[in-house]
Amino acid sequence: MKIQFNDLSKQWEVIKDTAKVRLDKLFEKSDFIGGKAIEVFEKNFAEFCGTEFAIGVSNGTDAIKLSLASLNIKNKCGVIIPANTFIATVLAPTYLRDLDHKLVLIDCDEYYQMDVALLEECLEENRKKWNSCVIIPVHLYGHPCNIKKTMELAKQYDCFVLEDSSQAHGAEVLNKRVGGFGDISAFSLYPGKNLGAAGDAGIITTNDEDLYKKVKSLRNYGSSKKYYYDFLGWNNRLDTIQAIILDEKLKYLDEWNNNRIQVAEKYNKELNELEDIILPKTAPYIEKQVFHIYAIRTENRDDLQAYLNKKEIPTVIHYPIPIQETKLFKYLDKNNNQRTKKYSRQLLSLPIHPFMEDNEIIFITDTIKEFYQ
Ligand SMILES: Cc1ncc(COP(=O)(O)O)c(C=O)c1O
Repeated sequence: MKIQFNDLSKQWEVIKDTAKVRLDKLFEKSDFIGGKAIEVFEKNFAEFCGTEFAIGVSNGTDAIKLSLASLNIKNKCGVIIPANTFIATVLAPTYLRDLDHKLVLIDCDEYYQMDVALLEECLEENRKKWNSCVIIPVHLYGHPCNIKKTMELAKQYDCFVLEDSSQAHGAEVLNKRVGGFGDISAFSLYPGKNLGAAGDAGIITTNDEDLYKKVKSLRNYGSSKKYYYDFLGWNNRLDTIQAIILDEKLKYLDEWNNNRIQVAEKYNKELNELEDIILPKTAPYIEKQVFHIYAIRTENRDDLQAYLNKKEIPTVIHYPIPIQETKLFKYLDKNNNQRTKKYSRQLLSLPIHPFMEDNEIIFITDTIKEFYQ
């Protein structure tokens, strides 16, 4: 049995008839930059997230960078980020030449989200030292972070909130989808994401018209009118081709997320009996976890991974090296964030995608059981 970690070709099977018609028209028109499909996708994605605005951009990393650049920040600015996230979340502020910032990494809780008790401690200790502050919570692995407490703290300590929703398209908390809680939200649309393009892409959502206008300008050289420049911007646009692919896939996102949830439930049922494994938990405060990643934790992670690999079951580690242990960000390592460090040696992500067959799930869980026997 050839198991794939993710199977994108199955998504193409679903959308190809309608996508091909639209792609054909696009090539006839050669409307590759700024084509109509971009606006259509932006409108549909905003509607999906329940936000006023959405702005398509080049990728998720740029989405965080542009979102941050759109905020009215005063130096010196604290930028608070979960310690357990992908490097892109932390890279974004370093791209902004005029941003004099202080990065703080906060440890994760049992749901792998930013620990809000530690966030509160951090704000209490540091907020007065900064003229502004941006909290960038990440809805990691498809599980919304504790956004209620995060928003309360942001209000109390006067902070901006920039959600990094790159792993949680369609996840729900407080009866709303992620992407509409903070001042602004960034999504990666990298191919393997729950909503993924056929290449690099990203999108930003917001309910704030000023931020919307600024991001639109920033993604297009800092220009809202051709040859007139309001800001130092970038070329960070979304391609029309990608907008068509994404718009077609968006129609199936709820269905595909529900399939992921079913796969996760089957994993839970089969693996529940194994004492050596900690299964992903769902916080009581959320409505919908969309399982971008199904991450288990075990002391024997490396041996288990090697065993699964021998049986041709692909697995991934999210993330093997905590940000503060990377060469670039070593200066942030103050012997804190012990949970993130410990989990980086224990976490193992099992294959998950909307088209997984029951016999594939059983083969994987039987092989894991075999390993522990
Ligand atoms: C949490 C998170 N933030 C940001 C990114 C960056 O997105 P991209 O690869 O599209 O630049 C990713 C994914 O790659 C991610 O998982």
